[in-house]
Amino acid sequence: MSNGERAVPVILITGAGGQVGIELTRSMSLLGRVVAVTRTECDLACSEQIESLVNEVRPGLILNAGGYTNVDEAESDRDAAYRVNADAPRTLAHAASKLGALLVHYSTDYVFDGYKACAYTEEDEPNPLSAYGESKLAGERAIREAGGNHYIFRTSWVFGLRGGNFLKSIARAAQTRDSLSVVADQFGAPTSAVLVADVTALAVRAYLRNDRPLESGIYHLAASGETNWYDYSRLIVETLALGGVPVRTAIEQIRSIGAADYPTAARRPANSRLDTSKLRKALGVEFPQWHAGVQDVLLQIAASKDVLQ
Ligand SMILES: NC(=O)c1ccc[n+]([C@@H]2O[C@H](COP(=O)([O-])OP(=O)(O)OC[C@H]3O[C@@H](n4cnc5c(N)ncnc54)[C@H](OP(=O)(O)O)[C@@H]3O)[C@@H](O)[C@H]2O)c1
Repeated sequence: MSNGERAVPVILITGAGGQVGIELTRSMSLLGRVVAVTRTECDLACSEQIESLVNEVRPGLILNAGGYTNVDEAESDRDAAYRVNADAPRTLAHAASKLGALLVHYSTDYVFDGYKACAYTEEDEPNPLSAYGESKLAGERAIREAGGNHYIFRTSWVFGLRGGNFLKSIARAAQTRDSLSVVADQFGAPTSAVLVADVTALAVRAYLRNDRPLESGIYHLAASGETNWYDYSRLIVETLALGGVPVRTAIEQIRSIGAADYPTAARRPANSRLDTSKLRKALGVEFPQWHAGVQDVLLQIAASKDVLQ
């Protein structure tokens, strides 16, 4: 290898069947030989399975897209959430460190309590409101304590064409219901799984080429701009109607409510805004506005309505 470039690596993607995992499997295929495993091939709740997978594959990079992501169920299933969100990253981090491999992991805006008046930076102190947020924070800390080379990307409000997410839930509900009530006092940036995967690919490429690689640490990775769930829903329903998808909910029948009027098992932060300047500056790129990614997915839904079935 010349210029300090690393050899073409084996890239192991765990949790490959989720929204981010699917897109990483696509974006990483340009950068190395991808081994993408879902729950069927590796149960992240089982450290022995993780260790034997890593020993067998001997990757140069590990990207962990798996996560216990049911925020409300985590409240009553805390142990299961911790096994996947804290113990698995710890095992992966130690395994990666032993091999000298880079570990890329994803965390969440839900590590914050949402009381800050402006966007959260990587320097802000986490204070999760939920078991999910606590388990994700424990995962971040375990990776840092393992001491190996790592990137932890905190993202927010992820959506994609495949997998379950708010965008698709609203799109489905708008086809069957006359009216919708949606929370208007929680703010953040809907971020497409495609963006998460493409930005990860830029970071991995810089690492592989040894061309101004990111330093190990936490980075905020979210689309630009901000919205709330209510305005987001309006954009979804409006765009679907314009795209010829039959929607039953008229736009004026989308009602804004407060989070207090929509009780859930887990508390969620009112402010999920992430300041992404550290990552944008390090990679020398800008991130697109959140609605660009939303409109892309909605166009694909309009073109292939069975995506919602
Ligand atoms: N979704 C969001 O809004 C959001 C926001 C901020 C951060 N994040 C973080 O981003 C990452 C990716 O999220 P995502 O949106 O892609 O989530 P997702 O679509 O729910 O995917 C998570 C994946 O993890 C897998 N998984 C769960 N438990 C597992 C286990 N025991 N063994 C193996 N695989 C297991 C799931 O498999 P099954 O399909 O078999 O359950 C699923 O494929 C996660 O770390 C998440 O915490 C997500």
